[in-house]
Amino acid sequence: MRYSGIDTILSRDPVVLAPMAGITDPPFRKIAREMGCSFAFTEMISDNALIFGNARTAKMLTIDDDDHPLSVQLFGSDPRRMEAAARLAEEAGADFIDINMGCPTPKITRNGEGAALMLSPGTAREIIRAVRNAVSVPVTVKTRKGWAPGQGSAAEIASIAEEEGASAIAVHGRYREQYYSGKADWDAIREVKNSVRIPVLGSGDVLDPRDVKSMLAQTSCDGVLVARGALGNPWFFAHARELLTEGTIPDPPSPGERIAVALKHLRLQIEYSGEHLGVLQMRKHIGWYIKGLPHAARVRLKLHELERPEDVERLLTDYLSEADRLSADD
Ligand SMILES: Cc1cc2nc3c(=O)[nH]c(=O)nc-3n(C[C@H](O)[C@H](O)[C@H](O)COP(=O)(O)O)c2cc1C
Repeated sequence: MRYSGIDTILSRDPVVLAPMAGITDPPFRKIAREMGCSFAFTEMISDNALIFGNARTAKMLTIDDDDHPLSVQLFGSDPRRMEAAARLAEEAGADFIDINMGCPTPKITRNGEGAALMLSPGTAREIIRAVRNAVSVPVTVKTRKGWAPGQGSAAEIASIAEEEGASAIAVHGRYREQYYSGKADWDAIREVKNSVRIPVLGSGDVLDPRDVKSMLAQTSCDGVLVARGALGNPWFFAHARELLTEGTIPDPPSPGERIAVALKHLRLQIEYSGEHLGVLQMRKHIGWYIKGLPHAARVRLKLHELERPEDVERLLTDYLSEADRLSADD
C-alpha cells in the first residue's frame, strides 16, 4: 500500500516511534504496534553496510506485512551510496526513507555522517536530492537543533530539505555536542515549524504522554517522536492517543501485564535474533519493563547470569506469579 502522505498519517495519529539504534528492530516494533503505535522508524542503517551486503544490516530491512507505515532511516555521507541504499530500502518495502543528520556518535560523525552533515549543508543538499531522485516513496530528514551554538542549524537543514522536496523534517531539540544531556529545547522545534511549510516532527524529552500534548501545544509541530519514553513502555502510544482524544490517561499497566509483554517480547526477539543474541538483547528491555516494580533490582542481577531463553522465561514466570501480590518497591 502507498501512503498518501506523512501529513495524513500524522493528522490521524501524531505519536510516532522514533528511530533508536539497537532498539527499534522488528520485534520491538511489533510489540509497539500491537500496543497502539501506528507509525514507526527503523534503527539507523548504514548505506555502506547495506550496499556491501552485510548480513546483519540486510536483516535490518526485515519488514513484516503488519509493520506499516514504516520509515527506514539511512545514514551515510556520499550521495551515490545513499541513493543506492535508498533503492534497496524501497525494494524491501519502506514507506518512507529518512536521512539521518543528527547522530552525535564520533564513530559516525568523523566520517562526515549523521550530525556532521549539519556542518556540510552542500553535501546534505546533494544527499537529499540524490535520494529523492532515486526512490518514489517520500523522503524525510531527521536532524538536531545544531552542531553547537553558532555551528550548523536545524532551520538551515529544514530549509534545504524543503527546497529539495523532502516531505517532512524531524528535529531533536539538542545540539550534537549535548548528546543526550541537558534539557531538549522545544523552542528550536517551534522555530523550525515557523520557518517551513513541510510537516515538522518534534523530538526530545517526550517521556510521558502529557509531554506529547505539551510539545504539540508549545511548538505547533505536526508529530511527536517518542524515543526513551517507549523503552519498556509500549503502552505509551495508546495512552498518549487516549489523552489527546479523550483527555484521560488509562491506569498504568499492572506488574502482571508488564511481565506478560516482556515474555512476549523475549519470544519474538529469540525468533528474530536467535537464542544467544536474543537473550543478550533482552536483558536491557526486561530491565526497562520491570523498572520500578518490587524486587526489580534482584531480578535484573539474576538476569545477567542467565544465557538460556528457558531460564530467562522461568525467571520471569516465577516473578510474574509473585509480582501482582507484591507491593513494596525496592
Ligand atoms: C538508544 C537510542 C538510540 C538512538 N538511535 C537513533 C537513531 O538510530 N537515529 C536517530 O535519528 N536518532 C536516534 N536516537 C535519538 C532519538 O530518536 C531521539 O531523537 C532522542 O532520543 C530524543 O528523544 P527522547 O528525549 O524522547 O529520548 C536514539 C536515541 C536513543 C536513546
